[in-house]
Amino acid sequence: MATKRGGPRSKAVWKESSPYSRISLRRYTPNVGVVVDNIDLANIDDETTKEIRRALAEYCVVFFRDQNLSVEQHIEFGRRFGELDVHPAAANATGHQEILVISADENSDRANGEAWHSDVSCQPQPPMGSILYIHEVPPSGGDTMFSNMYAAYDALSDKMKEYLNGLVAVHDGEHVYRGLYTGVADKPSYPRSKHPVVRTHPETGKKCLFVNRSFTTHIVGVPRDESDAILNFLYQHMEHPNFQCRFQWEPNSIAFWDNRCAQHRAIWDYWPHRRYGHRVTVMGDTPF
Ligand code: SIN
Repeated sequence: MATKRGGPRSKAVWKESSPYSRISLRRYTPNVGVVVDNIDLANIDDETTKEIRRALAEYCVVFFRDQNLSVEQHIEFGRRFGELDVHPAAANATGHQEILVISADENSDRANGEAWHSDVSCQPQPPMGSILYIHEVPPSGGDTMFSNMYAAYDALSDKMKEYLNGLVAVHDGEHVYRGLYTGVADKPSYPRSKHPVVRTHPETGKKCLFVNRSFTTHIVGVPRDESDAILNFLYQHMEHPNFQCRFQWEPNSIAFWDNRCAQHRAIWDYWPHRRYGHRVTVMGDTPF
Protein backbone atom coordinates (compact mmCIF):
# COMPACT_ATOMS: atom_id res chain seq x y z
CA MET A 1 0.00 0.00 0.00
CA ALA A 2 1.32 3.48 -0.87
CA THR A 3 2.48 5.59 2.09
CA LYS A 4 0.81 8.99 2.47
CA ARG A 5 3.54 11.61 2.46
CA GLY A 6 1.60 14.85 3.01
CA GLY A 7 3.02 16.89 0.11
CA PRO A 8 6.03 19.22 0.12
CA ARG A 9 7.78 20.30 3.32
CA SER A 10 7.09 23.91 2.50
CA LYS A 11 3.93 25.12 0.80
CA ALA A 12 4.15 28.55 -0.83
CA VAL A 13 1.03 30.17 0.52
CA TRP A 14 2.39 33.69 0.78
CA LYS A 15 -0.39 36.18 0.27
CA GLU A 16 -0.10 39.92 0.13
CA SER A 17 -1.78 41.67 3.06
CA SER A 18 -3.76 43.90 0.66
CA PRO A 19 -3.55 44.70 -3.07
CA TYR A 20 -0.74 46.91 -4.36
CA SER A 21 -1.90 49.93 -6.34
CA ARG A 22 1.34 51.86 -7.03
CA ILE A 23 3.67 49.05 -8.03
CA SER A 24 3.20 45.87 -10.02
CA LEU A 25 4.81 42.76 -8.58
CA ARG A 26 5.96 39.61 -10.33
CA ARG A 27 7.00 36.63 -8.21
CA TYR A 28 10.61 35.64 -8.79
CA THR A 29 10.04 32.21 -7.21
CA PRO A 30 6.95 31.00 -5.36
CA ASN A 31 8.65 31.33 -1.97
CA VAL A 32 10.89 34.36 -2.10
CA GLY A 33 11.42 37.55 -4.08
CA VAL A 34 9.39 39.80 -6.34
CA VAL A 35 10.34 41.88 -9.36
CA VAL A 36 8.90 45.38 -9.58
CA ASP A 37 8.60 46.37 -13.24
CA ASN A 38 8.19 49.78 -14.86
CA ILE A 39 9.62 51.91 -12.11
CA ASP A 40 12.29 54.60 -12.01
CA LEU A 41 13.71 54.62 -8.49
CA ALA A 42 15.09 58.13 -9.02
CA ASN A 43 11.51 59.41 -9.14
CA ILE A 44 9.22 57.82 -6.63
CA ASP A 45 6.75 59.34 -4.18
CA ASP A 46 5.94 58.48 -0.57
CA GLU A 47 3.03 56.14 -1.43
CA THR A 48 5.27 54.12 -3.77
CA THR A 49 7.96 54.02 -1.07
CA LYS A 50 5.38 52.61 1.36
CA GLU A 51 4.41 49.88 -1.08
CA ILE A 52 8.04 48.94 -1.75
CA ARG A 53 8.54 48.72 2.01
CA ARG A 54 5.52 46.45 2.37
CA ALA A 55 6.62 44.24 -0.55
CA LEU A 56 10.06 43.95 1.06
CA ALA A 57 8.62 42.73 4.37
CA GLU A 58 6.17 40.37 2.64
CA TYR A 59 8.46 38.84 -0.01
CA CYS A 60 11.90 39.30 1.67
CA VAL A 61 13.62 40.72 -1.43
CA VAL A 62 12.53 43.11 -4.16
CA PHE A 63 14.31 43.26 -7.53
CA PHE A 64 14.43 46.16 -9.98
CA ARG A 65 15.95 46.14 -13.48
CA ASP A 66 17.47 48.86 -15.66
CA GLN A 67 17.90 51.58 -13.08
CA ASN A 68 19.96 54.65 -13.71
CA LEU A 69 20.91 56.14 -10.35
CA SER A 70 23.86 58.34 -9.48
CA VAL A 71 25.66 57.57 -6.21
CA GLU A 72 23.71 60.43 -4.59
CA GLN A 73 20.37 59.09 -5.91
CA HIS A 74 21.20 55.60 -4.63
CA ILE A 75 21.85 57.10 -1.17
CA GLU A 76 18.69 59.19 -1.42
CA PHE A 77 16.63 56.10 -2.35
CA GLY A 78 18.05 54.28 0.71
CA ARG A 79 17.22 57.21 3.00
CA ARG A 80 13.55 56.91 2.06
CA PHE A 81 13.55 53.75 4.22
CA GLY A 82 15.53 55.01 7.22
CA GLU A 83 18.93 56.26 8.29
CA LEU A 84 21.86 54.63 6.54
CA ASP A 85 24.37 52.42 8.27
CA VAL A 86 28.12 52.85 7.93
CA HIS A 87 29.85 49.46 7.67
CA PRO A 88 31.87 48.72 10.82
CA ALA A 89 34.90 47.32 8.97
CA ALA A 90 35.01 48.09 5.23
CA ALA A 91 36.88 50.95 3.56
CA ASN A 92 35.22 54.20 2.59
CA ALA A 93 36.19 53.77 -1.06
CA THR A 94 34.00 56.30 -2.84
CA GLY A 95 34.16 59.32 -0.54
CA HIS A 96 30.58 58.53 0.58
CA GLN A 97 30.72 56.68 3.90
CA GLU A 98 27.24 55.19 3.28
CA ILE A 99 28.44 53.28 0.19
CA LEU A 100 29.91 49.80 0.55
CA VAL A 101 31.74 48.86 -2.65
CA ILE A 102 31.02 45.29 -3.76
CA SER A 103 33.71 44.32 -6.22
CA ALA A 104 35.70 41.30 -7.34
CA ASP A 105 38.01 40.79 -10.30
CA GLU A 106 40.98 38.67 -11.33
CA ASN A 107 43.19 40.22 -8.62
CA SER A 108 40.77 39.80 -5.73
CA ASP A 109 41.62 37.57 -2.78
CA ARG A 110 37.99 37.29 -1.81
CA ALA A 111 34.50 38.46 -2.70
CA ASN A 112 31.91 39.80 -0.28
CA GLY A 113 29.21 37.63 1.21
CA GLU A 114 30.22 34.17 0.05
CA ALA A 115 28.63 32.41 3.05
CA TRP A 116 24.95 32.57 3.98
CA HIS A 117 24.31 35.58 6.21
CA SER A 118 22.12 38.44 7.25
CA ASP A 119 24.13 41.66 6.95
CA VAL A 120 26.10 42.76 10.02
CA SER A 121 23.87 40.73 12.35
CA CYS A 122 26.57 41.21 15.02
CA GLN A 123 25.31 44.78 15.60
CA PRO A 124 22.91 45.39 18.51
CA GLN A 125 20.51 46.83 15.95
CA PRO A 126 21.27 44.91 12.74
CA PRO A 127 20.38 46.54 9.42
CA MET A 128 16.76 46.38 8.34
CA GLY A 129 17.64 46.18 4.66
CA SER A 130 20.40 46.39 2.08
CA ILE A 131 20.15 47.87 -1.40
CA LEU A 132 22.71 46.46 -3.81
CA TYR A 133 23.07 48.16 -7.19
CA ILE A 134 25.28 46.14 -9.53
CA HIS A 135 26.73 48.20 -12.36
CA GLU A 136 28.99 45.68 -14.04
CA VAL A 137 28.26 41.98 -14.38
CA PRO A 138 30.51 39.15 -15.57
CA PRO A 139 29.65 37.38 -18.87
CA SER A 140 27.92 34.70 -16.79
CA GLY A 141 27.59 33.85 -13.10
CA GLY A 142 27.83 36.18 -10.12
CA ASP A 143 24.26 35.40 -8.99
CA THR A 144 23.08 36.11 -5.47
CA MET A 145 21.00 33.54 -3.57
CA PHE A 146 18.29 34.57 -1.13
CA SER A 147 16.47 32.40 1.37
CA ASN A 148 13.15 33.17 3.09
CA MET A 149 13.46 32.88 6.88
CA TYR A 150 9.68 33.04 7.47
CA ALA A 151 9.29 29.95 5.27
CA ALA A 152 12.21 28.21 6.97
CA TYR A 153 10.67 28.84 10.40
CA ASP A 154 7.18 27.78 9.28
CA ALA A 155 8.50 24.48 7.90
CA LEU A 156 9.94 23.39 11.27
CA SER A 157 8.01 20.90 13.39
CA ASP A 158 5.94 22.28 16.27
CA LYS A 159 8.31 20.51 18.69
CA MET A 160 11.35 22.27 17.22
CA LYS A 161 9.54 25.65 17.24
CA GLU A 162 8.73 25.11 20.91
CA TYR A 163 12.40 24.33 21.67
CA LEU A 164 13.73 27.37 19.80
CA ASN A 165 11.26 30.01 20.95
CA GLY A 166 12.83 32.05 23.75
CA LEU A 167 16.43 30.98 22.96
CA VAL A 168 19.06 33.65 22.37
CA ALA A 169 22.26 33.37 20.30
CA VAL A 170 25.51 35.33 20.14
CA HIS A 171 26.43 37.03 16.84
CA ASP A 172 30.07 38.11 16.66
CA GLY A 173 31.87 40.32 14.12
CA GLU A 174 35.38 39.57 15.42
CA HIS A 175 36.08 36.34 13.50
CA VAL A 176 34.39 37.77 10.39
CA TYR A 177 35.97 41.20 10.10
CA ARG A 178 39.44 41.09 11.69
CA GLY A 179 41.97 41.25 8.89
CA LEU A 180 39.27 40.88 6.23
CA TYR A 181 39.61 44.08 4.26
CA THR A 182 43.03 44.47 2.64
CA GLY A 183 44.50 47.94 3.20
CA VAL A 184 42.04 48.79 6.00
CA ALA A 185 43.38 49.05 9.56
CA ASP A 186 41.65 46.73 12.01
CA LYS A 187 39.44 48.29 14.69
CA PRO A 188 40.27 47.53 18.35
CA SER A 189 37.02 45.54 18.49
CA TYR A 190 34.02 44.60 16.36
CA PRO A 191 30.35 44.39 17.36
CA ARG A 192 29.07 41.37 19.31
CA SER A 193 25.41 41.04 20.27
CA LYS A 194 22.80 38.59 21.53
CA HIS A 195 19.63 38.15 19.47
CA PRO A 196 16.61 35.85 19.66
CA VAL A 197 17.04 32.67 17.59
CA VAL A 198 13.50 33.26 16.34
CA ARG A 199 12.66 36.92 15.84
CA THR A 200 9.35 38.59 15.11
CA HIS A 201 9.33 40.82 12.07
CA PRO A 202 8.30 44.28 13.36
CA GLU A 203 6.19 45.04 10.26
CA THR A 204 4.48 41.74 9.40
CA GLY A 205 4.35 40.34 12.96
CA LYS A 206 5.50 36.98 11.55
CA LYS A 207 8.23 34.82 13.07
CA CYS A 208 11.49 34.11 11.25
CA LEU A 209 14.71 32.27 11.98
CA PHE A 210 17.51 34.66 12.86
CA VAL A 211 20.79 32.72 13.10
CA ASN A 212 23.35 32.56 10.30
CA ARG A 213 26.56 30.72 9.42
CA SER A 214 28.71 33.85 9.22
CA PHE A 215 28.08 35.66 12.49
CA THR A 216 26.26 33.34 14.93
CA THR A 217 28.72 31.59 17.23
CA HIS A 218 26.50 29.80 19.77
CA ILE A 219 23.16 29.56 21.50
CA VAL A 220 23.28 30.89 25.04
CA GLY A 221 22.52 28.61 28.00
CA VAL A 222 22.86 25.21 26.34
CA PRO A 223 26.00 23.01 26.17
CA ARG A 224 28.31 23.92 23.28
CA ASP A 225 27.89 20.56 21.51
CA GLU A 226 24.10 20.91 21.68
CA SER A 227 24.34 24.47 20.39
CA ASP A 228 26.59 23.35 17.49
CA ALA A 229 24.21 20.51 16.56
CA ILE A 230 21.11 22.71 16.67
CA LEU A 231 22.75 25.53 14.70
CA ASN A 232 24.06 23.10 12.08
CA PHE A 233 20.63 21.57 11.73
CA LEU A 234 19.08 25.06 11.31
CA TYR A 235 21.69 26.13 8.74
CA GLN A 236 21.08 23.03 6.65
CA HIS A 237 17.34 23.45 7.01
CA MET A 238 17.29 27.13 5.99
CA GLU A 239 19.46 26.38 2.96
CA HIS A 240 16.83 24.04 1.51
CA PRO A 241 16.24 25.09 -2.14
CA ASN A 242 12.48 25.35 -1.54
CA PHE A 243 13.04 28.54 0.47
CA GLN A 244 15.40 30.08 -2.05
CA CYS A 245 15.79 32.02 -5.22
CA ARG A 246 18.93 32.69 -7.20
CA PHE A 247 18.94 36.17 -8.70
CA GLN A 248 20.62 36.63 -12.07
CA TRP A 249 22.01 40.12 -12.30
CA GLU A 250 21.98 42.29 -15.41
CA PRO A 251 23.88 45.57 -15.58
CA ASN A 252 22.01 48.16 -13.47
CA SER A 253 19.81 45.71 -11.58
CA ILE A 254 19.04 46.44 -7.94
CA ALA A 255 18.23 43.93 -5.21
CA PHE A 256 16.72 45.31 -2.02
CA TRP A 257 16.62 42.63 0.68
CA ASP A 258 15.13 42.59 4.13
CA ASN A 259 17.82 41.38 6.54
CA ARG A 260 15.20 40.63 9.19
CA CYS A 261 13.49 37.86 7.22
CA ALA A 262 16.02 36.90 4.49
CA GLN A 263 19.53 35.56 4.28
CA HIS A 264 21.69 35.81 1.21
CA ARG A 265 24.83 34.37 -0.29
CA ALA A 266 26.92 35.73 -3.15
CA ILE A 267 28.40 33.29 -5.66
CA TRP A 268 31.95 34.00 -6.85
CA ASP A 269 31.99 31.65 -9.82
CA TYR A 270 33.03 34.23 -12.43
CA TRP A 271 36.79 34.61 -11.82
CA PRO A 272 38.74 36.11 -13.63
CA HIS A 273 35.90 38.40 -14.69
CA ARG A 274 34.84 41.54 -12.89
CA ARG A 275 31.64 42.25 -11.02
CA TYR A 276 31.17 45.71 -9.50
CA GLY A 277 28.48 47.56 -7.60
CA HIS A 278 27.53 49.67 -4.60
CA ARG A 279 25.46 48.78 -1.56
CA VAL A 280 23.68 51.07 0.86
CA THR A 281 22.42 49.61 4.09
CA VAL A 282 19.37 50.84 6.00
CA MET A 283 19.55 50.81 9.80
CA GLY A 284 17.24 48.53 11.73
CA ASP A 285 16.00 48.10 15.27
CA THR A 286 16.60 45.73 18.17
CA PRO A 287 15.35 42.22 17.29
CA PHE A 288 12.61 40.81 19.53
C1 SIN B 1 26.63 41.15 0.18
O1 SIN B 1 26.17 42.27 0.37
O2 SIN B 1 26.64 40.28 1.03
C2 SIN B 1 27.16 40.84 -1.20
C3 SIN B 1 26.08 40.31 -2.07
C4 SIN B 1 26.50 40.15 -3.49
O3 SIN B 1 27.59 40.55 -3.87
O4 SIN B 1 25.71 39.61 -4.27
